[in-house]
Amino acid sequence: MSFTALTNRIIFLPLVCLIYVSCQNDTSRDVYHSWSAYNGDKSGSKYSALDQINTENVANLQLAWKFETEPLAEAGYSTIECNPLIIEDIIYLVSPSVAVIAINARDGSERWRYEVDPGRRSRGVNRGLAYWSEGDSARIFFSKGNYLYCLDAQKGELVSSFGQNGTLNLKEGLNRDADNRNKSTTPGVIFEDLYILGSTVGEGPGPAAPGYIRAFNVRTGALVWTFHTIPLPGEPGYETWPTDAWKDAGGANSWSGINLDEERGLVFCGTGSAAYDHWGGNRIGQNLYANCVLALNALTGEKVWHFQAVHHDIWDYDIPCAPNLVQVRKDGLLIDAVAQPTKMGHLFILDRETGEPIFPVEEVPVPQSDIPGEQSWPTQPMPPPSLRYARQGFYEDDITDLTPEATAFVKDQIRNMKMGDLFRPPNRDSALIMPQFNGGTDWGGAAYDPKNRKLFVNASNEAEWISMFEATLDQSISQFDLGAKIYQTQCTFCHGSEGQARQIQNAFTLSSLKAIAAQRTEDDLHLILAGGRGLMPSFNWLSDDEKSAIIAFLREKGQDNLLDLSKISVNFANKIPWLASGHHPIKDDGGYPINKRPWGTLSCVDMDSGTIDWQVALGTYPALEARGFEPTGTFNLGGPMVTAGGLVFIGATMDERFRAFDRNTGENLWEYQMDAGGYATPATFEVDGKQYVIIAAGGGGIPGTKPGNAYYCFSL
Ligand code: HEC
Repeated sequence: MSFTALTNRIIFLPLVCLIYVSCQNDTSRDVYHSWSAYNGDKSGSKYSALDQINTENVANLQLAWKFETEPLAEAGYSTIECNPLIIEDIIYLVSPSVAVIAINARDGSERWRYEVDPGRRSRGVNRGLAYWSEGDSARIFFSKGNYLYCLDAQKGELVSSFGQNGTLNLKEGLNRDADNRNKSTTPGVIFEDLYILGSTVGEGPGPAAPGYIRAFNVRTGALVWTFHTIPLPGEPGYETWPTDAWKDAGGANSWSGINLDEERGLVFCGTGSAAYDHWGGNRIGQNLYANCVLALNALTGEKVWHFQAVHHDIWDYDIPCAPNLVQVRKDGLLIDAVAQPTKMGHLFILDRETGEPIFPVEEVPVPQSDIPGEQSWPTQPMPPPSLRYARQGFYEDDITDLTPEATAFVKDQIRNMKMGDLFRPPNRDSALIMPQFNGGTDWGGAAYDPKNRKLFVNASNEAEWISMFEATLDQSISQFDLGAKIYQTQCTFCHGSEGQARQIQNAFTLSSLKAIAAQRTEDDLHLILAGGRGLMPSFNWLSDDEKSAIIAFLREKGQDNLLDLSKISVNFANKIPWLASGHHPIKDDGGYPINKRPWGTLSCVDMDSGTIDWQVALGTYPALEARGFEPTGTFNLGGPMVTAGGLVFIGATMDERFRAFDRNTGENLWEYQMDAGGYATPATFEVDGKQYVIIAAGGGGIPGTKPGNAYYCFSL
């Protein structure tokens, strides 16, 4: 903490408390005492005013009960990313296979469960639920795949008056045949009688759905408004794309939640990159409203302002979470603002009403792409250095110093790779990217303490490498080679290539895909490719010949079957001429990250000064600790929670521990070893005068870590 920050705090604290107390009306007091919306309240603060568990007694925090949602996944892996809701004495949560379950908050006993396909162990991602009540009726909204479901909160049954028998197909109502690429993984927010929801869409080289943000009537499911994140002709921002892009450009989706300023009637969210992630030759331009912080009128969906954090993204640097609603004291005045963490580890603090940066943002010239057809953007926005909280770029000096052997090993591994700036574009040569494609910060986002105007944000510091290749086909190619080529361009992103860990949670590796392919019939495999499954998109845009070629490749057949390309139908190579070889993890000789420690951090950022108060390593590798290393931090997934008890709770780490840090100093005051990683954001609540803290330990979400099935609930 700097000297000025300290004096500021001493001078302003009594004043701030006064202002805070006077601003708190009954509803806001209620808001911060319950956990009735995703991430705590509709503003997504991840803050609780509960203080029974505090810095003095947290050392005595114990497991009160543990709820096992369903049998542990036997094969493959699964995860839980859900931040549960607590309404009075009922907790609503989801299982790894996305069953919605209501349990008793006192002891974790089950009240009801709702399964979309009872008995079928389907998987997917669901980060939480939305709750709406009026009079005696109460509803739970949740999404799985491309459907939105509306449940009666008391009975756990579909509400038949909503949508079609309680469900809505999110594929419908877009301006094109979205062919099941439109899904929803993160709950939206409820404002008056609207449920405002974003989407997860494919970002691969195939056809993609546009990431429109939509509002549905909570009673009927009727579509009320749509905000076109890829503007239609005549709408502002249309000029930042090629003329016809609105017809088939995809992405620019808000996949990670929406936060509400109820008083102003404004919703805030972040958007992802445009598809395809790594070559934008068919979307020359700035690409608004991809990679933006958006402020929309909650009633009408009209845009109030936008701030683009990455222009013409070719890195997959999505805005990974909704911004926090914060306040900044400047020249004696409290300014309402939003604070946006990013995958790059940049924190943008913007005026809540205008989107103007409160701390200066500079457009900095960046290296340019050498890929034919690409036109990378000449500059990118940078916040002041004091608001960059993750490692920026990868240079010689960043190479690990864990041991001399590790240093030598990594130097050898990367001797032919390029290093350099954060915004170095993916080019033909292999290059190290830092922060890697999951950030920096991912969907867990930040927690905000409104009383002290401090933001708590976790981040990962790891490198990955990427390279681009030209996706052309030789005139004469075997069926196996065609399949391999399509696999490499369409499937490795999630399933990995040979010897590589899987890239996305819940997807099988190439070797297990080969085992599956050996067992299934040809017809079954065609159906899976045509229809998609869980988080896997449909590949129906590939011709039957192409699907057969992939199947041949998976079954290690067709090497001698030479194809005549003029006689078969080939769709894939013409779409995107330059493709990324993948997001490749890279490790040292012991399997640890190739860069210097810390590999994961938790930071406390002071909103008034725009500086980092403290930053500590988040997580440890027990094997390294046993060798005498201080906690190194690990890659992390899931967000923090801050409480009036002066504590920041967070799981997220690969060591599968759940921790409480001192809000003021970053000291690790308590930790608990779980059976699987807590890759989810915790919640806290009070029943019968007793405070509890709960977190999902679903594991699996980070490659190489084991799956879990339970929620852990703690009390004094
Ligand atoms: C966006 C990520 C993603 C991409 C891209 C992707 N998959 Fe998948 N795939 C998954 C996931 C996730 C599953 C597990 C589905 C489930 O059960 O929920 C899966 C499952 C499968 C299965 C097994 C289905 C079953 O349950 O038996 C096959 C076969 C498969 N994928 C093949 C492919 C092929 C071939 C490609 C490329 C053409 C591909 N996938 C591209 C994510 C992906």
